[in-house]
Amino acid sequence: WGTLGHDTVAFIAQSFVSKKTASFAKALLNDSSDAYLANVATWADSYRYTAEGAFSSPLHYIDALDDPPAECNVDYERDCPEEGCIVSAIANYTARITPANVSLVERQKALKWVIHFLGDIHQPLHVENLEIGGNGINVTFNGTATNLHHIWDSNMPEKLIGGYSLSDARAWAGELVGAITAGKYANASSTWLNGIDIKDPVASAMVWAQDANSYVCTAVVPKGQEAVEGKELQGEYYDEAIVVIQQQIAKAGVRLAAWLDLIVEGKTGGH
Ligand code: ADE
Ligand code: ZN
Ligand code: ZN
Repeated sequence: WGTLGHDTVAFIAQSFVSKKTASFAKALLNDSSDAYLANVATWADSYRYTAEGAFSSPLHYIDALDDPPAECNVDYERDCPEEGCIVSAIANYTARITPANVSLVERQKALKWVIHFLGDIHQPLHVENLEIGGNGINVTFNGTATNLHHIWDSNMPEKLIGGYSLSDARAWAGELVGAITAGKYANASSTWLNGIDIKDPVASAMVWAQDANSYVCTAVVPKGQEAVEGKELQGEYYDEAIVVIQQQIAKAGVRLAAWLDLIVEGKTGGH
């Protein structure tokens, strides 16, 4: 996701974390503001383009070797290489947020990565190989030449909300929190934490990866890549995709909050 998506996921999570988790995160991040998670949600995308952080670039995705739209699936052994992927990264950095023998700077980075990667693992094209996560599929959006990955990350969310500022993210998060607690996601969201087990972070992240990857076959390239290649996608394609995007952002926020609560509760062993 771009800035709007990541900041929105973080604001949704801020609405659902326990008081204890909020205090823990504010202290570790040294930020007592009302945007303490959102303020660090895109750090990982800046860091990956520095010399020091280049190693972390492959950790933003997992390249599923499936064949959309005929088949969509992710396989950890098959698809997560030696250098790591978003699933192994979530597992590794989850384990580096609370231990006293990890330095403060490394614990801060670990939390910032988990906040970011829980967002990215909900973007279907971050859980898909097809032409490098859709980066190699040229499309136009509102007349602008771009690619399929970029419109899912940014153009389509920004068309919906009308910008990508922190206040745009706050507003979108507010709408989605309303839909989760008492609106169109009230029923579905009760299943969004199924399969989560803090003792098995790889299995938990694989549940989220399979879920996001399934939308590659149904919403990203339902009629194959030829049907979108070179096309203008701001019409019907957008109308179908934006429904999935909203739900995936909502899920990411709910799951991030629950995951952070499990990490923080795990530290002291209970309430
Ligand atoms: N680079 C290679 N695969 C990618 C993916 N699925 N998403 C983003 N960047 C990638
Ligand atoms: Zn992306
Ligand atoms: Zn990313």
